[in-house]
Formats: sequence, C-alpha cells, structure tokens
Amino acid sequence: MLRGALIGLGNIALRGHVPAYQSEGVKSKARIVAVMDVVEQSRTKANEVFPGATFYTSINTLLENEKPDFVDICTPPYTHAEYIKACAAKGIHVVCEKPLVEKYSTARELADAVKKAGIVFVPCHQYKYSPLWKSIRDVIASGKLGKVALAQFNVYRLHADTGTANWNPQWRTSKSHSGGGILVDTGAHYFYLAQYFFGIPQKISAILRTLKHTDYGVEDTAIVTLEYPDTLMQINLTWAANQRANSVYVAGEKGSLSYDGVHLLHTDGEETREIPMPDVSDKSQYVAWYAALFQEFICRIEQKNMATDLLDEAFMVMKLLDASYRSSEEKAVLDLV
Ligand SMILES: NC(=O)c1ccc[n+]([C@@H]2O[C@H](COP(=O)([O-])OP(=O)(O)OC[C@H]3O[C@@H](n4cnc5c(N)ncnc54)[C@H](O)[C@@H]3O)[C@@H](O)[C@H]2O)c1
Repeated sequence: MLRGALIGLGNIALRGHVPAYQSEGVKSKARIVAVMDVVEQSRTKANEVFPGATFYTSINTLLENEKPDFVDICTPPYTHAEYIKACAAKGIHVVCEKPLVEKYSTARELADAVKKAGIVFVPCHQYKYSPLWKSIRDVIASGKLGKVALAQFNVYRLHADTGTANWNPQWRTSKSHSGGGILVDTGAHYFYLAQYFFGIPQKISAILRTLKHTDYGVEDTAIVTLEYPDTLMQINLTWAANQRANSVYVAGEKGSLSYDGVHLLHTDGEETREIPMPDVSDKSQYVAWYAALFQEFICRIEQKNMATDLLDEAFMVMKLLDASYRSSEEKAVLDLV
C-alpha cells in the first residue's frame, strides 16, 4: 500500500481527488496518510474525508514526519513549483494539478529538477481518461476521418469559477496566483488534448482579450490557433458568454465529428451515427477520470517507470501558454519548432 499526502484540500481535492482515492481501483493500492493546507478550517474537513490522516500546515514538517511515497498537489498554480521541488529533493513521487506552474520562466528548471530526481511525475491531465476525448482521439487515430483539416473546440462560460471560500475565492483572476485567465484555467486542458490528438504543433497564434470582466486581472476570452502540417486546431474560450456551452467540430477529408455538449456524432460519407456518451451531468464520471489517472500514477510507481512523457506534456502546455500570450502581445504567428 502506497502512503500519500495531499496538499491543498480545496474544491478540486474534495470533488475530484478525494472520491477517486475512495474508488475501488485506487483504495486498495494507495492511502492518504497526511493532509497539508494553509487554512485551519481544512483540519476538520481532512479528519472527515481521510479519518486517521495527520493534518499539517508546513510541507517540510509533513515530509520529515511522514516520509510519504507520493504527494498529491491540489493548490493554486503559483505554489506548485515550491512543492514539486521539495518532493523531488527527497525522491518523493508527485501527482500535480494543472498547470505545472504559473510562469513559463520557472518551468524548464523545474522540469530538469524532476528529471534529475528520477521520480514519477503525473500532471492532472484527466480529460485524456474521459470517454468523450478518448473517443474523439480514437476516431482521429483510426484514419476514418482522413486528414483532418480543421478541429474546432468551443468553451463558453459566464465567469471564472471561484476557489474555496476558506482561502482566496478570487485567485483565478489574479495573475500572480494563477498565471493567467481562461487560457491558463481551461486552455491548459486543450493544450494537452492537442498533443493527444495531433502531437506538437509547428506554429501558434492567439488573441487574448478582456471583453466583459474588466475587474479581472487576467483575460476573460482567448482564441488560439495551433498549426500542424495538415491541420489547424482552433480553441475558442470565453468567460464572457451569456450561457454555459461546449462544442467540438472536427472536419476531415473523409468524415467529421461533432459534439454539442450531449451528443457525439460521427459522419462518414452519407451516414451519421452517434457514439454513445455517458451523461455529462453525472459527477461519478468526472471522478472516474481521476481514478483512472491515479491508477496510471500508481502503476508507474509500482513498475518504477520513470518515463518523462507526461512531464514533457505538462512542460509543452506551459510553452504553448507562454507562446499564446506573446503572440497576442506581438500580434504575430510564432514558430514553435
Ligand atoms: N484538472 C482540473 O480539471 C481542475 C479543476 C479545478 C481546479 N484545478 C486546479 O487545481 C488547483 C486548485 O484549484 P481549486 O479550484 O481546488 O482551488 P481552491 O481555491 O478551491 O483550493 C485551493 C486549496 O489550496 C489551499 N492553499 C492555498 N495556498 C496554499 C499553500 N501555499 N499551501 C497549501 N495549501 C494552500 C487553500 O486553502 C485551498 O484549500 C489549481 O491548480 C487549479 O488549476 C484543476
């Protein structure tokens, strides 16, 4: 049984990570023995969700006392580097929420420190474990669409999500805490999905704007285009919409895929068929993606698999985030290779 410590018992920890640790495939292999958070209120919550786990307010004391096999980092982005480094220095495996860090300038040094430490590092890129994104990837990879010309991903929201009330609910709209606005918060997911679907893009261009939420210290809208030899991938994200919606359209030379937030349709020649998807409002679905991700993490630890593919994927997300901000400022298409 692996012994783990969870850092930052806020929203994503309580809604995604905690139930995933309690799931069948994970609970027999890993156990959270300690929790660290900077707010005292989390002490009671920690006792409730992980009975018997010790609560800490200092990472160094936790690592010294508990000597865990792994640490799960669920704190806001600007804290990730410090915690990842502390774990790497002690050879402790890390699973960490996205994005890797809040600043590209610190990402390279951090990635090198993780590689040198030879630990397992898994970023929470959990969309790759969802039936929707797996199905889209499988259809693209099967060649059924032929060459994909245009893949478009749209995310409409009314505002930024708030963080837990006990700490700093507005951290997402503070650049120093988050690293950026909707591009960092939601775009990070699409930047690892881009790699999952099509690999590393060659060029990038972006337009980032604040269209509605002028009180935010970050952009509320982002349009990003990733260029591949045969494919353009366009990501449109906004917190300035009047209603929540998600959609996808992937147009290939032999067929297409469309998703309207409920139905995933594959059109092949004249025929359209629906690829069945679980109900998106079913919260157990979301937990299942985390459970699958944790199983991969545990499996890598058990097999002493120190492959750096997932660290490289998280680093590339940081590179694409940084290039998007530069492209928008310089009004330029930037080369990535
Ligand atoms: N993968 C996803 O789909 C997904 C979804 C939501 C959030 N996230 C990521 O999870 C992380 C947390 O987001 P959230 O929505 O849970 O935020 P939150 O504000 O709800 O929770 C943050 C928690 O961290 C604690 N904290 C703050 N600073 C700390 C520090 N220095 N040391 C220890 N604890 C500290 C807070 O007290 C709070 O309990 C972010 O990186 C965010 O991007 C990922």
